[in-house]
Formats: sequence, C-alpha cells, structure tokens
Amino acid sequence: MTPATVTLAALAAMKAAGQRISMLTAYDASFARLLDCSGVECVLVGDSLGHVIQGRDSTIPVTLEHMVYHVECTARGIGRALLLADLPFLRYADERDAIESSRRLMQAGAQMVKLEGGRAVAQVVARLVELGVPVCGHLGLTPQSVHQLSGYRVQGRAPEARSRLLEDARALERAGAALLVLECVPDSLGKEVAATLSIPVIGIGAGAAVDGQVLVLHDLLGLGEGRRPRFVRDFCATSGSPAAAIAAFVAAVRDGSYPAESERYGG
Ligand code: KIV
Repeated sequence: MTPATVTLAALAAMKAAGQRISMLTAYDASFARLLDCSGVECVLVGDSLGHVIQGRDSTIPVTLEHMVYHVECTARGIGRALLLADLPFLRYADERDAIESSRRLMQAGAQMVKLEGGRAVAQVVARLVELGVPVCGHLGLTPQSVHQLSGYRVQGRAPEARSRLLEDARALERAGAALLVLECVPDSLGKEVAATLSIPVIGIGAGAAVDGQVLVLHDLLGLGEGRRPRFVRDFCATSGSPAAAIAAFVAAVRDGSYPAESERYGG
C-alpha cells in the first residue's frame, strides 16, 4: 500500500516489507499534481530538465536558479509524495557550496536533495545529513560526468568497476544517505547493491531486483528524443492518456512486471 504521506521512514518500511517504490520526474505543478494523485511515492525534479525542458544535450548547463524555479513550480502540485531535487553540476563540490545549494532547494520546497558520486562526495553527504538535509545518492551512469564517462553507457560491467561501485554505495550509506538512485548497470549488480544496502535502491536501467524504479516522465510518455535506451518503456503507447500511462507505470513497478527481461542489461 502507498503511505498516505510519504516519509523516509515509510520508504524504509517499504523496502523492509519487500514493496517496490515508484519515482518519476516532474518539473511543473500540473504534472506534479498528476503524479501525486497516481500513487507514485517519490517525485524528482531532476536536472534531466536540461534535456527535456531546455532541449540541451547534457545536464551540465543546468544552474541552481533553474532548479529552484522548477522545484517551486513542482512543489505547488505535491500533497503526498516525497519531493526530491537534484543538486546541479559542481554546486556541491565542497561543503559550503553544498549547504548553500541545499538551502535554496529545500526552501523552494524540496524534501530531499540528490547528488552524484560515491566516496568523493561522502564527506559532503555526511555534513548535509548532520545539518538535517536528507540526501539521496546517485551511482552508476552519473549524467553530470558524461564527458568523463565518454558518453551515456552502461556502467559497472568490469569486475574492478563493479567493486568500485559497491564500495561507493557502502560509503554513501555510511555517510547517512537515505536513498540511492542507481542508473544503467547490469541486472546482477543492481541486485547485489540492493541486497548489500539497508537503504532503498531505486533503479533506472538497473534491473528488476532493486527496491524501486524511476523514469524520466517524458520517456514514459513517449516524448524522448533520439535513440531510446533499452530500459525505457513508452507507457503512453498502450495506455492512451498521460494519467493512464503514469498509473500503468506505478502498477507495473508494484507487480514487478517493469522492467521486463528485454528492458534489463546483462553482464
Ligand atoms: O535528472 C534526473 O531526472 C535523474 C533521473 C534520471 C534519475 O537523475
């Protein structure tokens, strides 16, 4: 059952009970309202807005001011779901900057901030948590590092990369992160990370054995640009309306029918 008001404790209880968590992105009040009514547990104002709202080819140009504006808009549509917001590129490189950026996002209406990276950001995560800011980590394909990663590609296939990712995940949990988004990794690695951590692991292209799933709303609605990644399912194609497509996503996450075998990465 979806909790009446979604809290971090409610998400932890869902993991403990083996209930899958659904998360979708939103960037404005209208879609936030639709998601909130659909039973989605978490809404993320992702810096993916650089792609789907601003038409850019990466998340790097997204600024704190862009994020604050979209968090304010989205927060007005939320009454029940937990609202997360991405800290933008290099706005959490040191504790001072991370604290100020988090202050802006939380005062705009976010209830949790998300940041990319593992051991390199663990100290920043620990400081934010100490100051009362809930933090969601993001590992695997970390889009803000697209140039360092030489493109948007599956991560954690080689044994060393797999161990590094597991160590980063443990470091984030130790630092106090309450949630982890895991993007574009083999199914087996998603399973191992979710089994290793006690915090919920929300996958996007991380297979079926994680604690929940997240998609970019525009991808779910069939509005994605260019080549469609393997894990993206166009829920609108079979549902007929945005509201029905969102409801179908929530139902498919809950009953485990999303992601199907063909929507997972092997290796
Ligand atoms: O920015 C975003 O929308 C994200 C999701 C892809 C998880 O980080």
